[in-house]
Amino acid sequence: MKLRPCVLTVAAALVTVTAAHANHHETTTLREAFAGKFYIGGTISPWALRTPTEGMAQLAYTHYDAITADNAMKWGPFNPQPGEYRMEGADAFMAFADEHDFYTIGHCLFWHSQTPGWVYEDADGNDLTREALLARMRERAELYAERYGSRVDVWDVVNESIESDGSRRRSRFNQILGDEFEAEAFKIADAVMPKSAKLIYNDYGMTDPGRRDAVVAMVKDFQQRGIRIDGIGMQGHWSMNRPSIQEIEDSILAFASTGLPIHITELDVDFLGRDQFFGAEGANVDIQSRQATPENNPYPDGLPPEAEEQLAKRWEEIFALLLKHSDKIERVTFWAITDANSWLNNWPARGRTNYPTLINRDGSLKPAYHRVVELAKAAD
Ligand code: GLA
Repeated sequence: MKLRPCVLTVAAALVTVTAAHANHHETTTLREAFAGKFYIGGTISPWALRTPTEGMAQLAYTHYDAITADNAMKWGPFNPQPGEYRMEGADAFMAFADEHDFYTIGHCLFWHSQTPGWVYEDADGNDLTREALLARMRERAELYAERYGSRVDVWDVVNESIESDGSRRRSRFNQILGDEFEAEAFKIADAVMPKSAKLIYNDYGMTDPGRRDAVVAMVKDFQQRGIRIDGIGMQGHWSMNRPSIQEIEDSILAFASTGLPIHITELDVDFLGRDQFFGAEGANVDIQSRQATPENNPYPDGLPPEAEEQLAKRWEEIFALLLKHSDKIERVTFWAITDANSWLNNWPARGRTNYPTLINRDGSLKPAYHRVVELAKAAD
């Protein structure tokens, strides 16, 4: 399942990037390091594909064998108004994925956020009936199935529909469809998408016991009712000290008890942190944006060695755990390609310089990168 042909070496792929990378010619790429263990992915926008931002596209296919579009396939960006489609971004992303033979993630079919209000309403602005909303959801899935078909390997069918206490999110999907929203969404995806596409549920805060247990219960319920679900996505927007490795392991084991593979779908480590500046808001994206200040943005010009070391230790403990459970893990995707295109530079405050991945903003490789690669090699 996870055997892939020999891949590009850094020497071959980075030769045309900047001279800054020249000293890494012999380095093992991430996709080489994790080959046979799990897919290793990154996230990119069509904008980054069109412009030579730090050789972003090249770094993507050099290091990763799985790819996710950050926004282009969400309902709002793809279909902002009834009958108005903006498919160029998704098309460019899919062409890039095809060209480099990526394991390709469709993100995401149904999510309460970045979905325009018209989706839930009729022409007079009244809430749709249950049947009308289901028909609209099916239409969206059919359009993707027709346009991209089996070129998408995994669909995030439902994103973030369960609260940390285990209750269902009172989204507009939930208000109209009730607690059957998720089941209906998966039934639609199963009916419409090619059988080769894996259908997964994806959420953040998956180490919160309430959400974790509710997801396990939902999956088991689907399995009993014969509703196809093929995997569980743990986003993994983590910080330097939370969640603990034990909490992550508890969740991996709980999700694995369903028999489904786990996808780590949106991995990053928020080095600067948020709670100490902005309170404990978790990874909820619906918060008000704030600006960078010298206090909340202490490293605008790079990290001192002690900080690099702390970061390397955090990444090492995370990947040691993921490698320990690689038999249960299908894929690990970073929610960025390098530090340069991470959302954590702009959330929860705009214009910060954050350090959320293994690759620096100029494409050079962090001490953490080398430590993680060494771990992967030692696990061979
Ligand atoms: C959520 C979504 C992603 C992205 C990230 C942060 O986790 O699933 O699509 O929006 O937030 O950018």
